[in-house]
Formats: sequence, structure tokens, C-alpha cells
Amino acid sequence: MLVKKTLLTLCAAATMLVANAQTQPKVYTIASGQVKAHIEPTMYGIFFEDINLAADGGVYAELVKNRSFEFDSHLAGWQQQQKAGGKGGIEVVDRTNERPENAHTIKIDVSDNAGYFGLSNEGFRGMGIKKGETYSFSVTARKPVANAVSLLVELHSAKGLVIGTAIITPTSTDWKKYNVKFVATATEDKASLYVWLKGKGAVELDMISLFPQHTWKNRPAGLRADLVQKLADMKPGFLRFPGGCIVEGRDLANRYQWKKSIGDIDKRENLINRWNMEFKHRPAPDYYQTFGLGFMEYFMTAEDIGATPLPILNCGMACQYNTGQLVPLDQLDPYVQDALDLIEFANGGPDTKWGKLRADLGHPKPFNLKVLGVGNEQWGEQYIARWKIFTKAIKDKYPYVKIVSSVGPSPNGEEFTRLDKFFRAEHADILDEHYYQAPKWFLDNATRYDNYDRKGPKIFAGEYAAQSVAIASPDNKNNWDCALAEAAFMTGLERNADVVSMASYAPLFAHVDGWQWTPDLIWFDNLRSYGTPNYYVQQLFSLNKGTDVVPLLKDGEMVTGQDGCYATASIDKSTKELIIKFVNSGATAQPVVFKIDGVSAGKKTAVVTTLRSADKAAVNSFKAPKLVSPVASTLLVNGKTVKVTVEPYTFKVIRLKLN
Ligand code: AHR
Repeated sequence: MLVKKTLLTLCAAATMLVANAQTQPKVYTIASGQVKAHIEPTMYGIFFEDINLAADGGVYAELVKNRSFEFDSHLAGWQQQQKAGGKGGIEVVDRTNERPENAHTIKIDVSDNAGYFGLSNEGFRGMGIKKGETYSFSVTARKPVANAVSLLVELHSAKGLVIGTAIITPTSTDWKKYNVKFVATATEDKASLYVWLKGKGAVELDMISLFPQHTWKNRPAGLRADLVQKLADMKPGFLRFPGGCIVEGRDLANRYQWKKSIGDIDKRENLINRWNMEFKHRPAPDYYQTFGLGFMEYFMTAEDIGATPLPILNCGMACQYNTGQLVPLDQLDPYVQDALDLIEFANGGPDTKWGKLRADLGHPKPFNLKVLGVGNEQWGEQYIARWKIFTKAIKDKYPYVKIVSSVGPSPNGEEFTRLDKFFRAEHADILDEHYYQAPKWFLDNATRYDNYDRKGPKIFAGEYAAQSVAIASPDNKNNWDCALAEAAFMTGLERNADVVSMASYAPLFAHVDGWQWTPDLIWFDNLRSYGTPNYYVQQLFSLNKGTDVVPLLKDGEMVTGQDGCYATASIDKSTKELIIKFVNSGATAQPVVFKIDGVSAGKKTAVVTTLRSADKAAVNSFKAPKLVSPVASTLLVNGKTVKVTVEPYTFKVIRLKLN
């Protein structure tokens, strides 16, 4: 009996001890006066690549697909239309000798005054049209012989209702651009454009185009305002463009050539998008690049959103996952020259050839290019050989330009180690590391940079995203589990801001009906867009990066996963604030106390932003675009002690004034 009673007492005491241990707040110390590392203003940025209809069909607001009839199948996206007895014919005209870069036009011939004859365009998985919005239709046309033919332009809803209409009458027998504006009468996400010929006779057409008038900064033929706004809302430190594998191309002919992406829109030679047939499970044979979003637009967008421009250039190698085609070393000059000319285009004065072109294109002010990538995801001796030639030429002429060098597609392994060793011996500027890994990898690698050489090259975490199933699996989800793991990992990036100078999630955009790769940061359809939980993680880090890292410790150690917790602290010298980032990746709430040195005592109000979900599988969607999104609150604190409970599966940012 006595034994039983003693046992019961012991059990009760043990239970109380466990309960106490769980409810006793854990104590973290922050020395806000001890700067450990400076955080570069470039720290959190954006990776842009035309994948998943990110550019054509996405941020580039053109609504007409195959507007210049340059797809391999010249009438792809177009359909002949006739009604009420209209008769005629459509012919593709080849003018390669005259205009090799825009070699095809169409000739429509109507044989009868009666009825309607013409063609329709399906857009990029339909066209997104908004009621009350003004649309700008334009076309380049000529009449082989003078006639009274005019063009009746109509927008049709998916049900066939006319929701916008305009008339244009081409007048010239020479090529001339015509433009008309009209207002849409209904909202429709799967509209199509009809162009009817009215009258008897023939007309030749090219560059049939439709844009909303309202674009980003209301630039004519510009970018989708809602999508660029999402980028601006991240206050990104840099904009990496144009990729990604698209830089390399499946073969060299398919590589991105920046010089072909600037100037007159109808002279930018179209190119098949390398992602069109990359994945058998997501074929997109109609995916081409018009380069309406070209290097000038990339530079201007970077400037608009306050981001440092970071172009990545082909280094004489096609994608090593595809053909791996190589430019022989003795024929590399034009590629190297492209890099030198790009620097002159971005930074040169009006007295330079390329600087003058930039000024002529409407931007006399330099773009202040300071960083340039040589190659995307390259590896092997062949890369090293080409990298040496590029680097010497660039550094000889522009010693101030920092070069981003690839350490291959994986964050470890033989190729990674070889390149890492080589670049460190070469005192390379910045190494571009990529990781598309499981969420667990991100949790386990929060310490990745703790032991990197503090004096070696800077690290650009140039492409990363947690993959819920497997790399590029079509079943990957942008769920909270992945986003939370990324947040935990990013505390490690920030803690090591003396080594890591830039980081960007990849890919950026995906069209819900036209994607090839998932997960992606921002999803959109023809009218709307939403940020994923991963987007909000990126945004919270970027908006709260601070200027300098200060130590945040528990029992004298960095917080890198103990009890599922990850944390970092920084100060913002300009706003005089302390910023604490805390990730609880576990299923148990964590009562925590931050004991802060170097902050004035006295009551003050801290601003707490919480990003959380009790369900790690939670995703945002058009139905619930903000299911997992930041919630702001305030907390009355004593300046020296901040007490807070961090809920399970939660990322919290706490800001408080230092004085
Ligand atoms: O982000 C998608 C692709 O992943 C990029 O184009 C490439 O660099 C990487 O393999």
C-alpha cells in the first residue's frame, strides 16, 4: 500500500516537472549592440524566368498569341471564321528575304460583300478582359491594291457574346501601323479576339495586337500591373533575369540573345520557348518568346521596383541537361562581346555605341549595372575554360563589375565541390548555388553557411524552393510545410549575411492553366493572381531584413533547430529598430522570452507579424488567396524583455524600437 502511494506521488511529481518544462518559457539572449555582419541591401531578391507562361501569356500584357505569325505553325492560335455567308481565304505570306527576323504575314482576301469572313485568336489559354477597361488594338497592314476594305474588331466572351468592338480602315498600300481603342462591356477570363474583313478585296496583316491600356505605370504595350505590383510589394534587392535554363537554350540557336530583345517590337525575332516540350507531362507546344519583355523592359522594371539588375548571360554553352552544345573556345568572341556590350548598354554614356542606343530607346540615365552572371547552371571543365575567358575580358574592361559564377545545379556532390574549390582558389566574386530539395533538407541546412570561409567568395542562393514531392514533380505543392522549412533555412542565410549576399526563390510565376514546373512563388490566371505561403515568407524576410545581424543565442548557442526552433536577429540602423525572426517548425507551442541587451528599458509597443497555419498541407488558392498570409498585431513589452508564445508551425517577425 505504502509502495503504491509513493509511486503515485513520484508519478505526479514527474508529470508536473514535464508540464513545467513545457510551459517554462525558453530564454534567448540578444545583444543588439554587437554587430556580427552587415546585411547587403541586395539580400532578398527575385529570380525571373519565362517559364510557366511567366512572360508571354503572363506579365507581358499582350493578349494575342502568335501576333506576328512566326510560330513554326504560322497560324497557331488563329482560326478562320465566317458567318452569314461570308467567303474568303487566308494565306501565309513568306517575306524572308525582305524581313528575315519577322518573315511571315497573312493575306486575307474576301471575295464577296455579303456576310463576315475573318479570323479569331484564342489568346494564351483565353484572354482576360475587364469590364470598363480600355483596350488598345493595333495592327500593321497594307493593301496590295487600294480598296474599301475595313477591319471589324470584336472581343467575344466564352459564350460568344460580343463584349467590345472597334473598326479600323487601313488606307495605305504600304505597310503602316493602325491603332484603335475601345472599352470592354463585360469581364471575361476566356475571351477571344475576332478580326472580320468588311468589304470586298484583300489586305495583308502582321503584328495583330491587343493590350489593356492600364498596364504597369501605364506604359503602352507594357506589363500586367497586378503582377508587377506583387514584385514591387516584395521590395526586392535585385532582379535576376532572364533565367534560368532559358539563358542557355536547349541548343545554342535556342539561347537567349539580349541584343535581339531590344528595339522595335516587330523586329524582335521570335523564338520557341525552351520549356515548351521539356516535360512530357506538361507539354506546351504553343509556348514561344516574342521578347516583348526584353532586356530594356527588364532593366526598367528593376529600376521601377528598386532592385539591382542582375542579368545572367550565356557563356557559350547550351543547357547541359539537353544538348550541352558548346561554342569552340576560338569562336567565343561574339559571346564575350555580348557581355561587354551589355555593360556598355546598361552603364555607358551617350558617347558610346550601346549607351547611345539605350538613350535613344528612352533611357539616357544609366541602369547602374554592377553584377553579371556568366552562365546559368553550368559545370565541368568546359565551363571553367569559358568562364576564364569571360572573366578576363570583363574584369580587364570593367573591374568594378562583380561576376556571378555557377557551381552547378546541386548544392553538393563531385561537380559542386570541384567548382567550389576552383572558384575559391580564383578568388571569384559571387557563387550561384541552387537547391531544389525536400523540406527536411532546408531544415537540416539552416547551418549550411555557419562554417563557410568568411573571406571567400560571396554566396548567391540563386534558385531555391522546397519540393513537397520531388524536384519538378507535377504534384509539388506550394504548401505551408515547404514555406515554413524555407523560412527556417532563411534564418541561416540571414545569420550568415557576411557570406550570403543575395537569395531568390525559383521559379517566380506560374499560369494556372499553362505551367510546366511547380512549385512557384506567384500563381495567376488571365485576370487574377495570388501569392503562395512561400511568397509571404520571402516578403517578410525582405521587408524586415534590417541592416546588420546581431547575436541571438540560447544557452550561448545559435538557434538552428533545437526543439524545432530557428531564429535570427538584426537591427535596422536607419529606423533604429530591433528585428527578431523566429520559426517554430514543431507541433508544440513555444513560450519564449527574449532578454535584450542594448535596448532601452521602459514600456514600448512591439509590432508582431505572424505567418502560420495549423495545417502543414495548407495552400493558398484563388478561392482562399490569403489562407496563409501575415497577420499583424502589437505587443506591449518592457524594452529589455520580450515575452511571446510562438504557436506550432509558425513564423513570427517582431520589431521594436531600440530606444
Ligand atoms: O527554376 C527552373 C529551372 O531550374 C531553372 O531554369 C534552372 O536554372 C533550374 O534547373
